[in-house]
Amino acid sequence: MFVSNNLAVNEKGHLTFGGLDTVDLAVQYGTPLYLIDEDMVRDHCRQYKQSIEEYYDGKGLVCYASKALSCKEIYRIMKSEGCGVDTVSIGEIYTALSAGFPARDMVFHGNNKTEEALSFALEHGVGRIVVDNLTELKKLNRLAGEAGKKPTILLRVKPGVDAHTHSFIRTGQIDSKFGFAIETGEALEAAVEAAKMEHINLVGAHCHIGSQIFDIDPFKLAAEVMLGYMKDVYEKTGVVLTELNLGGGFGIKYTEEDAPVPYADYMKQVSDVVKQKAAEYGLPVPFILIEPGRSIVGPAGITVYTVGARKEIPNIRNYVSVDGGMCDNPRYALYQSKYDAVLANKADQPKDDVVTIAGECCESGDLLGENVPLQHAESGDILAVLATGAYNYSMSSNYNRNMKPAIVAVYQGESRVIVKRETLDDLIRNDI
Ligand code: LLP
Repeated sequence: MFVSNNLAVNEKGHLTFGGLDTVDLAVQYGTPLYLIDEDMVRDHCRQYKQSIEEYYDGKGLVCYASKALSCKEIYRIMKSEGCGVDTVSIGEIYTALSAGFPARDMVFHGNNKTEEALSFALEHGVGRIVVDNLTELKKLNRLAGEAGKKPTILLRVKPGVDAHTHSFIRTGQIDSKFGFAIETGEALEAAVEAAKMEHINLVGAHCHIGSQIFDIDPFKLAAEVMLGYMKDVYEKTGVVLTELNLGGGFGIKYTEEDAPVPYADYMKQVSDVVKQKAAEYGLPVPFILIEPGRSIVGPAGITVYTVGARKEIPNIRNYVSVDGGMCDNPRYALYQSKYDAVLANKADQPKDDVVTIAGECCESGDLLGENVPLQHAESGDILAVLATGAYNYSMSSNYNRNMKPAIVAVYQGESRVIVKRETLDDLIRNDI
């Protein structure tokens, strides 16, 4: 009935989330409100970790891609689950460190890392830096020399797999701002350079082929290409790359149209390729890192709003306006991403209406969805948009000087605030 199995309807006809009544939560904490199901987040981490145990004899690390949802509590949760984290900015590293997350279990990404950010990462001992380009490689070698450090690095490689088309092709991704291309020879060149550098410890290669992917084949192809690259690096430099980071990108169910593959299937099939190719090339099976973001937190979140105005435009559409919108979830405005929605206080009623959900911003494109099946909405109803755990809070903004909602975690039948709702004073904090 719902896209996520932590949602149900109780005897009052209300939507429940992680066993708690979402209407009660809306009253208790106010709206708009992000809810995150900590039990589910932890369960997803465990599923990925279990796959590493099963298919790689435990020789790997699940690094949660924290761009999907970054706040102190999520890093604490990852630490307690024994996961690493993928970070992409000094801000994410800082947030993780502030939460007591160990720097050694962080991976640092980015196509244009500043000197400040690299120095910060060196100073705090970030475990792995994924180097994106030659400028960065040289900069990092110099900064590491100056700081008396020798960072562990992986090279970000474009395997040339375009996963965003159904019949994926091998060459599409040369045109990407991220990483070294294999086709042009620059990826190999980067390994030659890195292997010669005094203040760099080159251990592996990284790839990430895209996001919200449902096919397993592009992942298998990427793994095959990466093992081929590791063989080439060995033959050219004599360096055995012992780590392979396969990125994230596993798809989730936003609406009934989406059919995600069980994570264990990806993990098994890709591990078969990795092991088979390693054996074929006479290389050791590399230590595997994966970076799931969306699939860890996405299905574990919902956003709860209060319905305000309803506007019926005959023969055109019915607008249902809510007290949030593109500020807390810009994904429809940006990508026309589809979401399921349900009226939390009428969850037992049939969805006999089709509406456009509008946000409160002064912007016509501020919509959360069009042609969304919904129960009949009236002012004061509580609307829940489902599967908003990833790339919502982390992509939120203060456009129109709207205040960001609170995040409430639901864990073992209890709720607690993990990010406070912004106040008017927060909005002017940096204004002079
Ligand atoms: N690793 C790297 C290097 C990445 O660039 C990404 C996502 C991930 C891991 C995590 O991918 P995931 O498992 O979450 O698919 N804002 C967009 C998504 C951008 C993803 C960027 N990179 C959205 O809202 O759909």
